[in-house]
Amino acid sequence: MPASKKIQTSIEKSSWIRKMFEEGAKRKAEFGAENVSDFSLGNPNLEPPTRFKQILGDLVGDPAPGRHSYMPNAGFVETRKAVADYLNTFNLPKFTSDEIVMTVGAGGALNVVLKTILNPGEEVIIPKPYFVEYNFYLDNHQGIPKIVPTKKDFSLDCDAIEDAITEKTRAVLINSPNNPTGKVYKENELIELAEVLSRHSNKHGQPIFLISDEPYRKIVYDGIVVPSIFNAYKESFVVTSFSKDLSLPGERIGYAAVNPDISDKNMIYEGMVLCNRILGFVNAPAFMQRAVAHLLEESVDISIYQKKRDMLCDALVSFGYDLVKPEGAFYLFPGTPVEDDVTFVTALQEKNILTVPGSGFGGPGHFRISYCVTDEVIERALPGFESIMKRYQKR
Ligand SMILES: Cc1ncc(COP(=O)(O)O)c(C=O)c1O
Repeated sequence: MPASKKIQTSIEKSSWIRKMFEEGAKRKAEFGAENVSDFSLGNPNLEPPTRFKQILGDLVGDPAPGRHSYMPNAGFVETRKAVADYLNTFNLPKFTSDEIVMTVGAGGALNVVLKTILNPGEEVIIPKPYFVEYNFYLDNHQGIPKIVPTKKDFSLDCDAIEDAITEKTRAVLINSPNNPTGKVYKENELIELAEVLSRHSNKHGQPIFLISDEPYRKIVYDGIVVPSIFNAYKESFVVTSFSKDLSLPGERIGYAAVNPDISDKNMIYEGMVLCNRILGFVNAPAFMQRAVAHLLEESVDISIYQKKRDMLCDALVSFGYDLVKPEGAFYLFPGTPVEDDVTFVTALQEKNILTVPGSGFGGPGHFRISYCVTDEVIERALPGFESIMKRYQKR
């Protein structure tokens, strides 16, 4: 057998995204790419801000030697200091460069944090629906996912989280703004969650950590601000990237920030730095670290995504779709008018509309639309969304 049994199983488990990708490629070849509305991937369609290219130009011309050498595994001190200074512009505990590790995207940051904290067999509680790569990331470090429900509007169900806590619970992993629902967790939800975790940490005699995955933090609508877990709970980490807000997913740049007030901070930070190295990343891409240090305040034009969200939500609601309007990120997670979400997604494919079944995110009875696509793709798909809904309404 060419791949290990475990990886063969993982290939099977990740089959939804793969299936959609294969279906998309097939349909694009058959009908022409311009006739297929592909809402299956979270790949931002906007170009990075103009200033990104200006900064790259400046950096290329920088004559200083050693710019492409090995560096501290946590990343360039100047970049980490720039990130800390940026975080210090918010009302948070005070950060220094020694609470920041530059990483290979948010995915790299999650792996660094999980590897640092997990003992084999320890559990991580994850509210669903959720970003399904978490299962694989946990498995990398012998962690066990404990998936818990959220409320009907996708807000946190702290009772469900509390019920899932066992003596093996090591962390809770949340994602706000959320992929796939676009939900932003409110301050009172975070405070309630922190109370639960503090209570059980005391019982355990060791902290249950809170990890917040926030690559969509800047992609929020209607003036919403994403509250920070750093104020709510000290045993905490934030992982993030510039993949979505600067449209740089291919550049693989992000960071992990550890709460300055976390217990045993020095050991945890040393662990994170070591894990960044021994996961094989060694350090985050040098050139991008130098670039993002100048771009911390920047983002793509979020109003463009808001317009797409509004266009889609208004149309889908008028066609009879049941949905919670997203507060952030660029995903919509409507209910399907038939219990089996795979059947519904397959019906949409007849109209050359590619979406992902909610089951792929632990949210059956729903489907995910990634609307980081051009307005033309959305406009072209609307009649198809309408006619497939009508078909089910008639039944
Ligand atoms: C919720 C969530 N976390 C993490 C990631 C990974 O981000 P990155 O590409 O920066 O590794 C993604 C990417 O889609 C995501 O949606």
